Amino acid sequence: MIPMGLQGLQMRTFILETLRLYSPVYTGFIRDIGKEATLGNVTRLAGLQFHILINMVHHDPKIWGQDIHLFKPERFSEGIAKATNNNSTAYMPFGIGVHVCAGFNFTIDEAKITIAIIIQRYSFTLSLGYVHAPHPA
Ligand code: HEM
Repeated sequence: MIPMGLQGLQMRTFILETLRLYSPVYTGFIRDIGKEATLGNVTRLAGLQFHILINMVHHDPKIWGQDIHLFKPERFSEGIAKATNNNSTAYMPFGIGVHVCAGFNFTIDEAKITIAIIIQRYSFTLSLGYVHAPHPA
């Protein structure tokens, strides 16, 4: 049986928070600026490339608050807009805009099913020697 805490919406918040804290596309994504544009007080952007580092945006305290390094699925319990202080595009594990990941919803559903199958059969504990040291690979 799936533990109550991971059912339905809560499973979604768990997955969203995992993808916020450790976005797998750690190289980010690139956008070419095709025509003249202004960003804040920076002008004449045409021809430049923007390299958007997902994990930097996902760890910006101005958007998420001071608890950016904590794993807190409940920050998504009232949706992405609430979690991002009404900057929904700041949540971008699947990119943003017209080229947003075609597999966004599929991936979330697939992860839910996979986690449900795994936790029906196994339980997990942290090894006593565990040292938390994530690194991109
Ligand atoms: C955790 C899993 C996944 C992550 C984190 C992810 C992330 C991303 C990101 C960041 C982009 C945007 C790249 C850019 O703008 O340059 C993207 C695009 C794309 N993804 Fe995913 N993806 C995932 C799974 C999948 C799956 C399962 C599929 C297909 C079943 C898929 C299909 C696509 C396609 C077709 C695009 C290109 C969309 C376009 O350019 O119009 N992705 N993905």
